[in-house]
Amino acid sequence: MTTSRFIRQGHRWVAGSFLAVVGLYIAAMALGGPPSWFVYVPLFPLLLLALSGSYLLWPRRRNNRGDAAG
Ligand code: HEM
Repeated sequence: MTTSRFIRQGHRWVAGSFLAVVGLYIAAMALGGPPSWFVYVPLFPLLLLALSGSYLLWPRRRNNRGDAAG
C-alpha cells in the first residue's frame, strides 16, 4: 500500500471514530450532560484528521515519465 493510500484510509477510519465520539457526546448531553473531561476526547481524533487531512490537501507528485514505475 502506498503512503498516500495508507493516509487516506487512516483519515477515513479516524473520521468514522470521530463521528462516533461526537454522537456519544450528543447522546450524553441528552442524558443530563457528559462529564467535563469528555469535552477533550474528540479533540484527539480531530487533531489526527487535521494532520492527515493537511497531507491529503498537499498537491500530489505525479509520475510524468510515461512509464508504470515510480
Ligand atoms: C480537520 C481538518 C480536515 C482536513 C484538512 C481534511 C482534508 C481532507 C482532504 C484534503 C481530503 C481529500 C479530498 C479528496 O482529494 O478527495 C479529505 C477526505 C476525506 N475527509 Fe477530511 N479533512 C478534515 C477533517 C475531516 C472530518 C472532521 C471528517 C469527518 C468526520 C473527514 C472525513 C473525510 C472523508 C470520509 C474523506 C474521504 C476519504 C477517502 O477518500 O477515502 N475529514 N479530507
